[in-house]
Amino acid sequence: KEIKIFSPATVANVACGFDVLGFCLDTIGDEMVIRKTVEKGIRITKIEGHDLPYKTEENVAGVSALAMYNDLLPDCGFEIEIYKNIKPGSGIGSSSASAAGSVYGINELLGKPLDKTKLTYFAMKGEALASKCEHADNLAPAIFGGFTLVKSAHPLQILELPTPSDLYATLIHPQIEIKTSESRAILPKEIPLQNAITQWANVGSLVHALHTSNYDLIKDALIDVVIEPHRKQLIPHFGEVKLAAMEAGALGCAISGSGPSIFALSKSEATATNVEKAIRDVYSKTDIKFETYVSKIN
Ligand code: HSE
Repeated sequence: KEIKIFSPATVANVACGFDVLGFCLDTIGDEMVIRKTVEKGIRITKIEGHDLPYKTEENVAGVSALAMYNDLLPDCGFEIEIYKNIKPGSGIGSSSASAAGSVYGINELLGKPLDKTKLTYFAMKGEALASKCEHADNLAPAIFGGFTLVKSAHPLQILELPTPSDLYATLIHPQIEIKTSESRAILPKEIPLQNAITQWANVGSLVHALHTSNYDLIKDALIDVVIEPHRKQLIPHFGEVKLAAMEAGALGCAISGSGPSIFALSKSEATATNVEKAIRDVYSKTDIKFETYVSKIN
């Protein structure tokens, strides 16, 4: 018995919600094939697209699968094939797609013994291998879909948020690598109270705006005064991209996860496509290679 799955890319933080908010992209992601075997244990048998370790304990998909396997102790083993489309270190949840995909697939093959929160819990073990910390803001949207809010990581509590029907994401991925661990290391341990007040007002407002499909309020709330000021210097031309996206009609534009990808949200696919063109124009003038995408949030 085998299953073929699409494991989606995701955008973490969503401007104001560092380590808490995330959303799932409909069209960008990895493919995985997972197969039940008589031989016990977890084996990675094929990796295409990017150079990643085959050893189960060194592979994000392997580690999350193993954590789940050692808890459930099923009477069989599993082979995992990974067709990696999401570049590691791109800031659109590459490691999360691997970690979420393996646990999701194994759960399906076992007849769904675990709920989505428990799957996220095991996927966090794989994610921790890549980013050196157990955070679930990419995993939760990969597993639940749509927008999610991680209310708490320990114990794990995930809230599903509604997605306004006309909301589209534009992504640009400059081909430079930023390691999440390094992008976290530059952040201050303490923040000024006034910034905290602004930030939690924005998170609350964004959640309300998603519930009420209030696009004006989404625009007001997509502002990050805590993390972006420190991370933006890691991403070449971030300021110009943001300006171009806003001038093209985006509701907001910010760093995707820990970067280097940048995302913008727009009302309507047509606006998201205009935004894509505007940000392509910025990067076309540089010698940095890049890819852009427009995707529904799903
Ligand atoms: N919330 C995490 C960070 C996401 O920004 O460091 C990493 O993908």
